[in-house]
Amino acid sequence: MAFRDLPAFRNLRAFARFLEQGKLLSRVHEPVSLVHDMTEVHHRVLVAGGPALWFKNAFSENGAASMPVLANLFGTPERVAAGFGVNLSRIAELGELLAALREPAPVDGFKDAMSRWPLLRAALATRPHMIARPDCQAESWLADDVDLARLPIQTCWPGEPAPLITWPLVITRPPGTAADDTTRMNIGVYRMQVLGRDRAILRWLTHRGGAAHHRAWSRSGEDMPVAVVIGADPATILSAVLPLPETISELRFSGVLRGERPRVAPALTIPMLVPADAEIVLEGYASATETAREGPYGDHTGYYNSVESFPVMRITAITMRRDPIYLTTFTGRPPDEPSIIGAVFNDLALPTMRRQIPEIVDVWLPPEACSYRMAIVSIRKSYPGQARRVMMALWGMLPQFNYTKTIIVVDEDIDVRNWQDVAWALATRMDASRDLTVLAGTPIDYLDFASPEPGLGGKLGIDATNKIGAETHREWGKTLQMSAQVRRRVDEIWPRVAASFTDGAVR
Ligand SMILES: Cc1cc2nc3c(=O)[nH]c(=O)nc-3n(C[C@H](O)[C@H](O)[C@H](O)COP(=O)(O)O)c2cc1C
Repeated sequence: MAFRDLPAFRNLRAFARFLEQGKLLSRVHEPVSLVHDMTEVHHRVLVAGGPALWFKNAFSENGAASMPVLANLFGTPERVAAGFGVNLSRIAELGELLAALREPAPVDGFKDAMSRWPLLRAALATRPHMIARPDCQAESWLADDVDLARLPIQTCWPGEPAPLITWPLVITRPPGTAADDTTRMNIGVYRMQVLGRDRAILRWLTHRGGAAHHRAWSRSGEDMPVAVVIGADPATILSAVLPLPETISELRFSGVLRGERPRVAPALTIPMLVPADAEIVLEGYASATETAREGPYGDHTGYYNSVESFPVMRITAITMRRDPIYLTTFTGRPPDEPSIIGAVFNDLALPTMRRQIPEIVDVWLPPEACSYRMAIVSIRKSYPGQARRVMMALWGMLPQFNYTKTIIVVDEDIDVRNWQDVAWALATRMDASRDLTVLAGTPIDYLDFASPEPGLGGKLGIDATNKIGAETHREWGKTLQMSAQVRRRVDEIWPRVAASFTDGAVR
């Protein structure tokens, strides 16, 4: 595709090779336990902004892992951007493309996007390429050979009840669609608790695409065919996590990102197509009726989730490449991999937000506030009451702000990504008796145990903008600023002044 800066990665190993060549992937030779220790190693490397980790000698009580385990794949924003095929500086451009795709009708923005990415329309319409002998089925475990214990599945945190598949790409289609119809396919990442040899729990939150498909199959009393990919090319993985419009299939969109038609093959035991270049595929059925208690597991909020019931998947086949790579991660208090991915998605989503609310200059969902729970928004303010209007617009118009408990609105001179700037704006431009908006009884993330009712709670808006017009009758403060003339004068004498510092601290 025209917009790629990097070569196309057809599979996970091609991406891993690329990262290793750039010293962005390290091989870990030391034996590391899959139970807890791998989380601790991964966490330390992630916090340090370190490389992807290729564990050669992972082990558990089942013995040495039969395959390498890859973690921290998207542990830095640069690697997330590389997964999209671009350098980090071009993420905003990719965001423009996504914004254009969301337009309800082909307006100028869409045409403009099409002219800049001329292959896009064709790519989105392209039928996947059917592969006769796909690499993902080089080996297959069927019937009594199906055994999840043969995979190096991680147990991330103390107190968790069983190993957890942490990076599953769960592929479903609604009832009434043909097995080879990829247009309505959904791919989402929903963690899976291992229940036994051939059984696992699919933990999709109710508003997810997979959950909606399952409800539709269950209504007609049928078990739903499900394919679960563990390890795929980065475009497929990131497409699964991206909140794409309902009308765009993640599989086809991954082809657009990768710059190559999606390569698929019929699954061996279920009426579904699977990505031909995947590392490992679990095939099976999500029961229409059987559920099991899931958890408690560590979550991206930094707490254990409460135990709840979710559908059980019966696994009918496990297929894989000849020398598969097992992809894993952990979720925990930020930073974790999903929070790094979220920070890049923040910038991808900016053009979409600006189209809806043009006065927005920048938006930051701080990863340390679990990404979506807090937003800091800078605006180009031109009339009284505008900050409140922007809060309402974000909460009311954009689904990704449904669960944002706190929105802080600041002026465009404040860097929303810099807490020192934000604290200064809060301390100098906000009055608690005038500038707070508190709403009750709004939708809240049901994982948020601080809300008074599950799924229902309050929202706080803080207007930390300069007050104008009828917003204040006081003389408002004028921001201190050195004149450009003085700065230029000091620039000239600066080398000599700096040279007088003997400790070299100022340059
Ligand atoms: C590592 C990781 C783990 C995730 N785990 C879950 C999960 O257990 N349940 C869930 O509903 N969403 C989970 N998500 C978020 C969804 O995968 C994500 O929102 C996706 O866009 C949902 O796709 P959908 O809208 O097609 O359902 C996870 C995301 C990541 C990156």
